[in-house]
Amino acid sequence: MASLSLSPSPAIAALGRRLAEQPARWLVTGSAGFIGSHLVESLLGLGQTVVGLDNFATGHRSNLDEVRSLVTPEQWLRHSFIEADIRDPDACREACRGIDFVLHQAALGSVPRSLANPLATNAANVDGFLNILVAARDAGVKRFVYAASSSTYGDHEALPKVEERIGRPLSPYAVTKLVNELYAEVFGRCYGFASIGLRYFNVFGARQDPEGAYAAVIPRWTRAMLTGGPVTIYGDGQTSRDFCFVDNAVQANLLAATTDDPAAVNQVYNVAVDDRTSLNQLFEVLRDALTELRPEVRHLRPIYGDFRPGDVRHSQADIGKARRLLGYFPSHRLAEGVRAAMPWYLSRFAVAEEVCR
Ligand SMILES: NC(=O)c1ccc[n+]([C@@H]2O[C@H](COP(=O)([O-])OP(=O)(O)OC[C@H]3O[C@@H](n4cnc5c(N)ncnc54)[C@H](O)[C@@H]3O)[C@@H](O)[C@H]2O)c1
Repeated sequence: MASLSLSPSPAIAALGRRLAEQPARWLVTGSAGFIGSHLVESLLGLGQTVVGLDNFATGHRSNLDEVRSLVTPEQWLRHSFIEADIRDPDACREACRGIDFVLHQAALGSVPRSLANPLATNAANVDGFLNILVAARDAGVKRFVYAASSSTYGDHEALPKVEERIGRPLSPYAVTKLVNELYAEVFGRCYGFASIGLRYFNVFGARQDPEGAYAAVIPRWTRAMLTGGPVTIYGDGQTSRDFCFVDNAVQANLLAATTDDPAAVNQVYNVAVDDRTSLNQLFEVLRDALTELRPEVRHLRPIYGDFRPGDVRHSQADIGKARRLLGYFPSHRLAEGVRAAMPWYLSRFAVAEEVCR
């Protein structure tokens, strides 16, 4: 696990200036969710006009309220919201009208959710994806950037993961994300449609939902540490991931949407840091970050459970392709991202504790 600090990308500073000079109209699907709400926040901050779309399947109005509180009233005036379902082709057509760039995030995440209900995952992630893809093509958008996933590497064991070498999917969720890539590729070939897929690796940060059976590991453990619940590690704790702070994912989206390098388009890219952190190490990073703020967590120990079916054993991204073709340069490694995200969890659970009292 590396601990070096990273400096901001020159490409992202130039991008900010370029966007400010040429405001565009963006559609963010899944905008009430974790990553989607960060995209909305960043785009509004850059003076862009943003249409958000969500059906609140897993996203929350409170995420949009929070974005509203973080941008200026003038910036918020450039935001509009459509409560709709991407499984509805008419709603997708309506949402894409007059749009320059689509950032498609709406999907049902989580490997265990897809194992429990593959039909629901397929309907949102494959039918919904195709609906929005067709609508974006018909509306003549300039670029379609979509959330792909590191789960596409499946049972391919080589590390770090390079985009061209994937294995067999290990879950229904992974199948849906692979199908997204296949459709995007075919739309490029058959219709000349310009898309870019971003294979996110374990993204984390503020507004990532800590509640429910399908919560991701960082919010789930942070919640448990702050509320006195058990922290369960599935397996022996040696399972590893390339944890990616949400600012890095936002950066990749903006670069992918606006690159004018033809070689960069109709490609998929890993979006992570090129670090590998075991779950045992992650436990320590979170506990240490929280100990600074809540000393009582210092003595916490994890408990160990069974390995979860469908989980990839190790994951680490080669980010050379994104660096080369998009100018992507992650601004945060795990520890920096955790420090940046902790105040959000603290404020959230401080409120929860007050309510329970
Ligand atoms: N967070 C990660 O680590 C990660 C990793 C790999 C890929 N991804 C992908 O990134 C995207 C965003 O993930 P996230 O972590 O922000 O999850 P999230 O659950 O917070 O956001 C997804 C949003 O999509 C919305 N949505 C779901 N089904 C919908 C439908 N049928 N119609 C309209 N809206 C719908 C949800 O309500 C939610 O607001 C997803 O496509 C996910 O598969 C995320």
